[in-house]
This record gives sequence, C-alpha cells and structure tokens, in this order.
Amino acid sequence: MKNIKNKLPLLIFVLLAMWSCNTTKNKSQKPYEAKMETFLDSLIQVMTLDEKIGQTVLFSAGWDVTGPTLDKNYVAYLKGGMLGALFNVNSAKGSRAFQKIAVEETRLGIPLLFGYDVIHGYKTIFPISLGEAASWDLDLIQKSARISATEASAAGIHWTYAPMVDIARDPRWGRVSEGSGEDVYLGSEIAIARVKGFQGDDLAATNTILACAKHFAAYGAAIAGRDYNSVDISERELRTTYLPPFKAALDAGVATFMTSFNEINGIPSSGNKFLLTDILRNEWGFKGFVVTDYTSINEMIPHGFSKNEKQAGEQALKAGVDMDMQGGVYLRNLKILINEGKVSEKEITQSARRILEMKYRLGLFDDPYKYCDEQREKDTQYKLEFLNAAKDMAQKSMVLLKNNKQILPLQKNNKIALIGPLVKDEHHIIGSWAAQGDRDGKAVSVYEGFESILGGIKNINYAKGCAVIGNDKSGFAQAVRVAKQADMVVMVMGELEDMSGEAASRSNLDLPGVQKELIAEIKKTGKPIVLVLMNGRPLTLEYEDMVADAILEAWWPGTMGGSAIASIIYGNQNPSGKLPMTFPRNVGQIPIYYNVKNTGRPYDINGSEQKYRSRYIDVSNTPLYPFGYGLSYTTFKYANLIIDKKEYNFSDTINVSVTLTNTGIYEGEEVVQLYIQDLVGSVTRPIKELKRFKKLMLKPNESQKIAFTLNVKDLAFYTENMKFKAEPGAFKLFVGTNSQDLLQADFILK
Ligand code: BGC
Repeated sequence: MKNIKNKLPLLIFVLLAMWSCNTTKNKSQKPYEAKMETFLDSLIQVMTLDEKIGQTVLFSAGWDVTGPTLDKNYVAYLKGGMLGALFNVNSAKGSRAFQKIAVEETRLGIPLLFGYDVIHGYKTIFPISLGEAASWDLDLIQKSARISATEASAAGIHWTYAPMVDIARDPRWGRVSEGSGEDVYLGSEIAIARVKGFQGDDLAATNTILACAKHFAAYGAAIAGRDYNSVDISERELRTTYLPPFKAALDAGVATFMTSFNEINGIPSSGNKFLLTDILRNEWGFKGFVVTDYTSINEMIPHGFSKNEKQAGEQALKAGVDMDMQGGVYLRNLKILINEGKVSEKEITQSARRILEMKYRLGLFDDPYKYCDEQREKDTQYKLEFLNAAKDMAQKSMVLLKNNKQILPLQKNNKIALIGPLVKDEHHIIGSWAAQGDRDGKAVSVYEGFESILGGIKNINYAKGCAVIGNDKSGFAQAVRVAKQADMVVMVMGELEDMSGEAASRSNLDLPGVQKELIAEIKKTGKPIVLVLMNGRPLTLEYEDMVADAILEAWWPGTMGGSAIASIIYGNQNPSGKLPMTFPRNVGQIPIYYNVKNTGRPYDINGSEQKYRSRYIDVSNTPLYPFGYGLSYTTFKYANLIIDKKEYNFSDTINVSVTLTNTGIYEGEEVVQLYIQDLVGSVTRPIKELKRFKKLMLKPNESQKIAFTLNVKDLAFYTENMKFKAEPGAFKLFVGTNSQDLLQADFILK
C-alpha cells in the first residue's frame, strides 16, 4: 500500500483499520479474501456518498472514439472524486497522468480503473474474433487473448471490453465480426478460452486484465440484423441459445459483464432486473460488477421505458447495473434519488464495493501505477513471438471454401497476376475494433506477403482494377491486360473494415461496389481465378462460387495477414479453418443456421421438392457453405463410427470413437465435429446440435482413432416445464467434417 499511504491521511486510517482488524474474521475464507473483505469494509466506511457514487461513474477520455457522445469534463469529475474509471486512454504515460490525479488530488486517493476495447489484439492485431473462431483452436484463441492482455496491460489498461459472446445468426448484423458465430457450444468454449487468456491465473499479475462478457444479452438477435434493434425472444430460446456463452464466461471467472443496447421483450437490458439480478446474481451467483454499454441507461428514454434520466438511473440501479458507461446518469441522479428515497445508499454501496473489489484484485491499492511503465510498454509491443503467433492464428483461421481441381496450392513458378482493391491494402486488413494496431506502414499486405514468399516481384503482375465501393470501372482494362499476361489470377477483394463491426448492418451481402463485375471481366480472359476474400461476415457468394476456381475466406486477418495469406496460397500452410457461421445463398434465406427445427413439413434435402413443404420456391433451403465447413489441401476419410452401447442409463457415459485417415498427399489439420439429435422431446428439438469437436493434425496416410465422451448432461435442454434436463428416448449421433457431411449412429436413453 506504499504509494497511497504516504499521501493520504484518510487512507492511512483505512489501512490501519485493515491491519488491526482480525483478518480471520471469517474462518472459511482464504486469507487473501478475508484480507480483501476487511480492507473493503474499512474503505467503504470512510467513503462519502458522493465518493461511492463516483466509483460507479465511467467516462471515455475520447482518445479513441467508440460512441456518439463525449463529455469533456471528466477531469473535473475525477478531481472531485466523482469518477471511478476511464476508458479509451491508451498509453502507459497517459494512464499514469490520470492515475496521478486520482491518487494525489482526490480525498481518498482511490485509483482509477482503465478500460479499453481490446478485442482481437492491442498492438499486434490478430484476426477478427469471427476469424479466430473459424480456427476452432481453443489453445490458440486463448494465446491470442493472453498476448493481447500482455500488450494492453503494458500500456496502462486494466480492463478489456471483451469477449463479446453474443451468438449471431444474422450476417446482416455487422457485429457478427466481433463474436464467435452462430453456435452455442463453440461460442461457449471460445468464451472460456478468451476469459482465461485475458485474465490468466492471477489478476494481480502485471500482464493480466479484467475481462468483460458482453453484451448481456441477446444483442445478436436484433430483429432483421439491424444494429441496436429490438429483440423479441422466448425465455426458452434466450436460455437455450443466447445465455450459455455468458454462463460459460462466468464459470471461467469473468470479472465483469456489460449490458446490451437492445430491449428484450419490451425491457431494455440496462433496466432488466430479470437478466441482471434474477438470472445473473441470484441464479448464477455472479460476484463481479456490471457495466452498461455506452450511454445505454440514457437510451432507455428513447426506448420508451423511462420518462427521464432520473427514472432511467433508478431503473438501472434497481435492475442491477453497477457502473454507468459514458451516460453520466448515475453521476447526476443517484444522490437525488437517495434524497427522494427512491434508491438506498446500501444499493449504491454494494455497486461501489463490487468495483473497488476489482481494483483490489488487480493490485491497484498496492501500487496504482503498476500498469504504467513506459519502458515495459515499449518492450512489450510487437514482439517477434507475438507477430509469429498472430501469423499462426491468421493461417489457422482461414477457410478454404472451394478448390476446384486442386488449383491451390500454387506453384512458385506459376506466373500470377494479383488483382483487386485489397491486394496492396495495409489499412483494412487488420479489421474493425483493432485497438492501437497500426495500419498503413505496419500491417503486412497481401502484395508484401507474396513478394516475400516469391523472393522478389519478378513473377507478379499487379492491377487494382477497382475500389471496394463505388462504380468506377476505369481500372478494369488494365486489370484485364495484366490478367492476360499471367497463367492465373489471384483476386483480393472484400469489404471495407468499417462495413462490419458496430453500426454496420448491411441489407445486401454481395461483394460491394463493382468487384463482382471485375471478376466477370477477368473470367472472360479464361485464366483460372483464385479469389481471396477479406471481410467481417458471411457474404452471399453464389456467383463467385460459380466462376472462381478457388476461394479462400481470409476474414480480416490482422497485422500479419498478407504473410499468412501468401503462405496458405503457396502451401507452406495447409488451410484448416471451418466456418463458425453459415454462408447463405442469398439474403432472403437469412436468418439461416444449422441447428434448426424440423417443422411439421420438413424440406428433404435429398428428396423431391414438393410444394407443401417448409421451403422457398425460388432457392434451396441449403446454405451455400454450411456451418463447420472448410476444405483442406489434403482429404480426410471418416470411418468406424462406434458408440459403446445401444442403450444408456442416465448415469452412463456415452463413449464414441471414429477413425480419421488422411487420404491425401499433404499433412493437414481436421476439425472432427460431433453432433446429436434428440428425436422426440416434451418440446421440439433441433435437427443437430454440436456437442464436441477436436482439431488434430495427420500426416498423409496416417489414421487416428478419435474418442469422445458425452454425459447425459450434454443431452439436457429446457423441457416443457423449463427444467434443464435430458429426457429418455431415441437419439442420433453424428460425427464428421462439417454440419452436413456426417456419419450417423443411434442410441436410446432409458
Ligand atoms: C460498444 C461496446 C464497447 C463500448 C465501449 C459500445 O458502443 O457497443 O461493445 O465496448 O462501446 O467502447
């Protein structure tokens, strides 16, 4: 407690009280917890109501703009002891300057908490979260979060607004890029990996940061994929699909939760007691603190849920919001609400204490400047091992969607033309929400990646052809000329980085601008086309699938993106990514996802397309590329799917095995996926649910027997009476390479 003790008479009192107290007052607590409780009790005792309210106030410093409003008076609030946390401060020097004010110029010297959106890297940028999810590689995902936390904590950051664990089944919603896709099980596993990566084992270590599970809840279910839109959802669907990744994050120890902007069934999340208190606190036992999203308490007024700011503040506090992000509602209204008897000081104390507890766990009362070391910041950024990990992650996240006649990998002596608006891009390639990642001049473009693999530019002809957006076709002729001189064409296209992410919903998911037309022109040359896509969401690619010989979905691959793409294209790395979200054929099929219900008039993929079926008359029900899909340069064969019994009791373990053989000529990784189907339930069940997966590497001709175990718990669901349990009956179990191509076995649960 050295730094504060010297300066702050009142805190000395607090600390003395702490040390003189019997730290074993609760014998069942570990000494650390008991000490912390004593410290917090003592601190709370000397805090004024204003100081407690101050802890619940969070403002943006505006160094990075992540929302529509800025309140420039945050320094004045800070000096008045009315600010507990700041976000968007992003350097060790900057955070030290603000921390100094908090520690030296406020009555109690309580340190500030610094938050920031560290989503897929801080300086070294990894692929966007959806891309990382496509790796299905939990160790690598955890490592990416670990590296992000290491860089961010060295730059003064204590708290990331990640992971975003919103399940998303509507690719029109731009924020699908920030999540882990459409599946509950995959999303939950990734949530755990990210929380562990950010927080590590010890929050007090200087290279760990608090994580934040966001956006609680069901933000991804916005009607029509329009950002911030309302959500109307049954409790069963909420609990089955949208809540489990949050619960998984909580079980992994996530320190904080962020509310979502949307309303759920008429109640905005920031005023939603059912979510924030009944479920999060009472049912799940969450002990950390809840922050709102950006001005989302204020937004309960336009939602039509609160008459004015004061009422919104009351509703938020009563619902269970501890900290107000950027809205100033708590700052301006909590005291008035107390005076009016609408809320109690006890409620405010409880929120302040939860926030102070996290400051304690980070070790900020011990040394408020422990994350403000400029030398460490310098030494920690862009370390070679981080860049290598980012390249590795980027390679593992890319999904090979098509590879006609094994055109990929290319041979180095192929004379290629690189064509497209993103060939030389160093800006968009790191994607949206890229924290302090440097773009132009730092990120490796595709062109540079090819140059370095080919050892010079002698084999590459280049033409931009067109921009990502707009109608200008003046570059087409040059592109066609360049294509004609080559043996084959690699086209690098996609979206702009800000076409996905927040406030970036799209109603048309085709490649924007005239990119498709450029492909058509190049197609006329008769040269084989390899299409490399950089984008933040599933796109509608029916045309591209028809005309391109190969398609590689590279997402926004991050700082090392161009290098990773080149290494895949030339076969230094075999692609192994699998789609975490279904790719539709057209926008009319959306929402489209693999674990649908059968309906009373199911559509039969293999059978005749009769009229009175649940289907479209103008497009198949099937997606263009299903969930879990992704090719490799090698081929895999699945055989011998065995389950150890035909009938299981409720106490049994279900043992499953399958033999996987690499039948191709390249070493490669495969993601083996296991799904189940509960055929009859007290409520209807989806036709498939992912329950396990394993990623493994096999050499050519190598076979491996892969074992999975399931428990009856894995078969549980919210039954007719909303009890989470398995029901006896017949099940199907599937194992295979994606959600459509699967071996099948059957069993009974008795
Ligand atoms: C976003 C959050 C983000 C916050 C702070 C909001 O607009 O919805 O995801 O954490 O801003 O930047």
